[in-house]
Amino acid sequence: MILAFETSCDETAASIFGGGKILSSAISSQIEEHRPFGGVVPEVASRSHIEALGAITDLALKEANVELSNIEAFAATSGPGLASSLVIGNTFAKTLSLSEGKPFISINHLEGHLLSPFLSTNQTPKPSMGLIASGGHSLLIKMDQVGDYTHIGSTRDDAAGEAYDKVAKMIGLPYPGGPGIDLLAKNGDPTRFDFPRSMMERDNHDFSFSGLKTSVFYLLPKLDINDRDEWLEDICASFQEAVVDVLVTKTIRATKEFDLNTITVSGGVSCNSRLREVFTEKCEAEGIELLLSSPEYSTDNAAMIAYAGQLKFEQQITTDLSEDINPNLPIT
Ligand code: KG4
Ligand code: ZN
Repeated sequence: MILAFETSCDETAASIFGGGKILSSAISSQIEEHRPFGGVVPEVASRSHIEALGAITDLALKEANVELSNIEAFAATSGPGLASSLVIGNTFAKTLSLSEGKPFISINHLEGHLLSPFLSTNQTPKPSMGLIASGGHSLLIKMDQVGDYTHIGSTRDDAAGEAYDKVAKMIGLPYPGGPGIDLLAKNGDPTRFDFPRSMMERDNHDFSFSGLKTSVFYLLPKLDINDRDEWLEDICASFQEAVVDVLVTKTIRATKEFDLNTITVSGGVSCNSRLREVFTEKCEAEGIELLLSSPEYSTDNAAMIAYAGQLKFEQQITTDLSEDINPNLPIT
């Protein structure tokens, strides 16, 4: 039984994995505290983690109907993320590990995301092309087996979720921007504005979303703010179609190039309804198996960390308590 913590950004989360499944997944979101600033304020985040961790741990234990003494190992995210946030959950887990005399396992946040589609679909991890699209990352990672990853592509500038958040701010929607744009896009015309699809060249697996963001920025002054209701949904739909087009096309291309037959999609942006729809249609047409992270395990959560912790524990991988957090921890 693994008790895991996730505090890499603005969610304080604890989860217990035991008996082959997630027994509890408790999350305290700080979104309301950061909303007035239009993004995450690191100092506010770390103070909030300290305040919430005790109660979130109690909740995770209670939900799972488990005593602290039943826990066999403690896991925590060690990076990448905000240093001042990572250190809180990491130190908390190490302290429990020391006081309970049980092993500690540090988990890479990105590996948590990458493995979450297997947790979501109850499948054993297998060779696959993984798209991780979140607020901090847009990554293509080839997985041969758990722990054996190859970096295939990443964003050269903004991450996909970051582009959603920045465009949302420009058009007056609250942070985080993804859910709001997703909702408005449902009634919009995705063909009204012809936004660029960057880095679509064949020999390249990287992404770029800053040109798309800038296109929205230059379009806005040309539109009449008094007619906002007339164009808002169309901007959302057109912007979203460009993001989805690039993510789906490039992921499928990389999957074929590396002779893989399975795609996994994870990270906050994998909640996006249009991304899920287009991936489903295209993978079906191409005969590629698609494993989507379920929405509850897509945005930051500790269940994906507990699951990754369980897989490490099975491989007898534990972490020395002297190992520090790393805000820039790579997945490969
Ligand atoms: O994985 P996550 O919770 O945190 C990071 O590790 O970054 O991802 C958060 C990101 C935010 O940028 C948010 O706008 C985006 O995921 N997001 C979405 C949707 N829900 C969350 N983007 C597009 N459509 C959504 N429905
Ligand atoms: Zn994340």
